[in-house]
Amino acid sequence: MAQNGSSPASPAAPRPSRRHTGAAVRRRTRVAVIGGGPAGLLLSHMLHLGGVDSIVVERQTKAHVLSRIRAGVLEEGTVRLLRDVGLGDRMDREGKPHDGTVIAWQDRAPFLIDTHKHTGRKMMAYGQTAITQDLYAAYERRGGELVEGAADVRLHDVTSDSPFVTFTRDGIAHRIDCDVVAGCDGFHGVSRQSIPADVLRTFERAYPFGWLGIMSETPPLDDIIYAQHERGFALASQRSPMLSRYYVQCPIGTDLADWPDDRFWAELKARFPKPLADRIATGPSIEKSIAPLRSFVAEPMRYGRLFLAGDAAHIVPPTGAKGLNLAVSDVFYLQRALVAHFKAGDDRWLDSYSETALRRVWGAERLSWWLTRLLHVFPEQDGFDTRVNQNEFDHLCASPTAQAALAEQYIGLPLET
Ligand code: FAD
Ligand code: DHB
Repeated sequence: MAQNGSSPASPAAPRPSRRHTGAAVRRRTRVAVIGGGPAGLLLSHMLHLGGVDSIVVERQTKAHVLSRIRAGVLEEGTVRLLRDVGLGDRMDREGKPHDGTVIAWQDRAPFLIDTHKHTGRKMMAYGQTAITQDLYAAYERRGGELVEGAADVRLHDVTSDSPFVTFTRDGIAHRIDCDVVAGCDGFHGVSRQSIPADVLRTFERAYPFGWLGIMSETPPLDDIIYAQHERGFALASQRSPMLSRYYVQCPIGTDLADWPDDRFWAELKARFPKPLADRIATGPSIEKSIAPLRSFVAEPMRYGRLFLAGDAAHIVPPTGAKGLNLAVSDVFYLQRALVAHFKAGDDRWLDSYSETALRRVWGAERLSWWLTRLLHVFPEQDGFDTRVNQNEFDHLCASPTAQAALAEQYIGLPLET
């Protein structure tokens, strides 16, 4: 069952105003996991399977975490890993396998990035919200300890042998002593910020546009489709037979209030070739939001006993559907390293964690950047850029070698073992 820091099982309650002193509610665990998104929950789940205890500290409530609508497409490696750790049942029942993703380029015939033909592997449409629900359910079944609504989370002494984490909950101070801190708290989290500026190198590209997304209870198109159009990029995706997810590229600073549903559907359809546009079933949106696009990598992913995983260390623009998949591969490497450390005293994988994870991260960064550049309209784009993009797409359509190379990257490189 999910617990919180003020549960009856906690030691004597401290005076509410005390913060991070000897009177704080104090616990100990092997791994303090900061962030209860997919990376943090999966890490804790896999550590548990490996016999290593952890406590997850999440800033938001569970309801808030589950209300976020983000990823929808999983690589085959992610699908296999989720099955291996006992999280595949619902995904296999409700998720939809795809041979790959289609590119609809202006009014040309749709082109399939055929991962199945070129790699023998399929993608899976299964939403991040469902994965997070599955992870919470597994967490609660095993009685894992999760702190919701933790405020003012801080990391201490991460370069010593005895790091600890402090936070407040309902005004009460808490302290978790641990051996290792796993920073899984996303792009805006505290973990990466706890690494000194002279240690951390960051690499970034901000894009001059975002994605305006809606969810609607309408039957989706059969395929997941990226539309390249002179009005801007659009994407048709799905969550279930009666739940569609669509996006259109929008300028930075777009106000949701300016996008009633009718305007969204009209713009979406204008960006798809007519035969596809005619098949898009419209209806009232049940969610509407804007996501900025950014490429970002922080190196190294380790500082003393602090290890970063997922969006805490890197962001990709969603074109390419790599962010959650990268979070899962980081977690695979990190749990393997931590289990070897705690169970066998073997630090080889811990010492190579940052390097191994970053190799995969940069592969996904490159692909996501390339697809973003190929498929979006940039404000400063001139005729030269347009012709180069056109030529790149023509080459892709004509060259089985280029198709195989793209399919291999799109399905995701195998995890290094
Ligand atoms: P997060 O999901 O951000 O979780 C971090 C958690 O830490 C949050 O719950 C947050 O509340 C918590 N937190 C933050 N600060 C603190 C703090 N100080 N203390 C404690 N907790 C804290 N990826 C794909 O692979 N496929 C896709 O199809 C795809 N589509 C996407 C579409 C969109 C529109 C967007 C925006 C993203 C998409 N992604 C996709 C990316 C994917 O959603 C992210 O990469 C993924 O959420 C990363 O998981 P995470 O656990 O690392 O970070
Ligand atoms: C989604 C699907 C994608 O193929 C992608 O690149 C980004 C997001 C989605 O379903 O949300």
